[in-house]
Amino acid sequence: MTDPGALSHLEETDPRTLSHLEEAVPLLQMSAITKRFPGVLANDGVDFDVAAGEVHALFGENGAGKSTLMRVLYGLYRPDEGKIAINGKATEISSPAAAIRQGIGMIHQHFMLVNTLTVVENIALGLKSSRGPLTDLRRVAKRVRELADSHGLKVSTDALVWQLSVGERQRVEILKALYRDANILVLDEPTAVLTPNEVDDLFRVLRQLAAAGRGLVFISHKVNEVLELSDRITVLRAGRRVGTLSREAASRESLVEMMVGHDISAEIRQAPAAGGDKRLVLAGLTVRGDRGQEAVRGVDLTVESGEIVGIAGVSGNGQRELAEAIAGIRAPEGGSALIDGKEVLGAPPDRVRAAGLAYVPEERMRDGIVPDFSVAENLMLVESGRPPFSHLGFLRARTIRRHCQKLVEEFAVKTPSLDTPARNLSGGNIQKLIMARELSGRPRVLLVAQPTRGIDVGAATYIHKRLVEQRDAGTAVLIISEDLDEVMSLSDRILVMFEGRVIGTADPRTSTREAVGLLMAGVVPS
Ligand SMILES: Nc1ncnc2c1ncn2[C@@H]1O[C@H](COP(=O)(O)OP(=O)(O)O)[C@@H](O)[C@H]1O
Ligand SMILES: [Mg+2]
Repeated sequence: MTDPGALSHLEETDPRTLSHLEEAVPLLQMSAITKRFPGVLANDGVDFDVAAGEVHALFGENGAGKSTLMRVLYGLYRPDEGKIAINGKATEISSPAAAIRQGIGMIHQHFMLVNTLTVVENIALGLKSSRGPLTDLRRVAKRVRELADSHGLKVSTDALVWQLSVGERQRVEILKALYRDANILVLDEPTAVLTPNEVDDLFRVLRQLAAAGRGLVFISHKVNEVLELSDRITVLRAGRRVGTLSREAASRESLVEMMVGHDISAEIRQAPAAGGDKRLVLAGLTVRGDRGQEAVRGVDLTVESGEIVGIAGVSGNGQRELAEAIAGIRAPEGGSALIDGKEVLGAPPDRVRAAGLAYVPEERMRDGIVPDFSVAENLMLVESGRPPFSHLGFLRARTIRRHCQKLVEEFAVKTPSLDTPARNLSGGNIQKLIMARELSGRPRVLLVAQPTRGIDVGAATYIHKRLVEQRDAGTAVLIISEDLDEVMSLSDRILVMFEGRVIGTADPRTSTREAVGLLMAGVVPS
């Protein structure tokens, strides 16, 4: 745990840098907000304020209470205790409609647009004036275009929402809030779905919105983003406000320490690729997606013993289908997949596993565990039929429990007991459980999809270390991740997937984030 004295200087905002913000009444003042869910204290007496003209970040691990605090503000939850004042006036916000009337806009993690309507229709939806004749829609369209132009929000206003890219949909949500004259704009993890270049565009728009006098709340658990965009940063941990820092007073280290409550050194040592034997060789792999589309279009790749190959890309470019086809849980369309020279493409999952593949899936709750089974049962899912756990057809209970206990300790899985249902564990601990199970079989090839998505920083660092350890022990490791920082820090080689193909490769030691980001957006250097 942190020495309380060590952080005390961080507890308060540096008065020198923010004097200009403190002269005026804050746009928003939330005081001592407490919100309980059954068994969870999601917000515990949290103070939070936003001044006109600033971007104020809410920073913290998954589950820290960021979304809850802003859902209270947006009238989606009633707080159990606490007060909200807008422009210095105490107010009750009983619904999103009430929040909108008070000038609050919220861009959710998952967009709330109707796919089959146009951009303008979506923005008009719920406006009183839109119930009138058609001319109203035309008026809405005109104003939407004006707003889009003046704020640098590129959107095709007449397109149907399903035709838009994710970045465009997000811009529609922002336009929708601006159309309703949002003066306080909350963005809940807006960068999670964007390419690095889209993130840059978004940040430019947000800076401009703040410069025009609005107050912005930017929710993120990514320290680099928070440092890049924000004027002030409030850190939440386990429902409590740990502190509020000005941008000038904050550093990467101080923020991460405040977030996790102790010092972690997240840097991964990068060893050069060992250049071993070819463990996994894909050739011309073609796979269809759920809607019958060609999701993977002829992918060739090789992973050697002792190297980590990272596949970068924005979600939905065939990465999921690629992983599932290798693991044997999705039928391939064509091509070949060799593990140690043996064809496994199209074989059932247990045969692929027997050939040496360990698989940590993206959909952990669906494909990685049986949520209702206990921790011990989940640890034994794939191994229980083999010696030393089974003898003459009987499971050997004591051997199994000892083995499970060892795995839980070795992988630091936080669980009340081996008999706890896996569904009760946090995301980070479920991921550690899956890793423990998969690595205990000493795989030849390790395939990990989204190793740390939705996981707190402490568990993520731990998982990164174990992946590097596997690499150093000679395993061929293939990582698929939408988190560019993760791919850059872990991989010995990077492949970028775009629209089902590997459209480029990068060397993480010499390539820049921007160069990889361009490939992720489908831009191939000429
Ligand atoms: N509707 C809900 N019902 C029960 N528990 C919830 C609900 N929403 C959030 N929680 C719990 O409250 C805590 C804070 O969650 P959340 O605000 O979503 O965190 P963050 O946005 O920082 O990741 C978590 O433990 C979460 O599981
Ligand atoms: Mg959240």
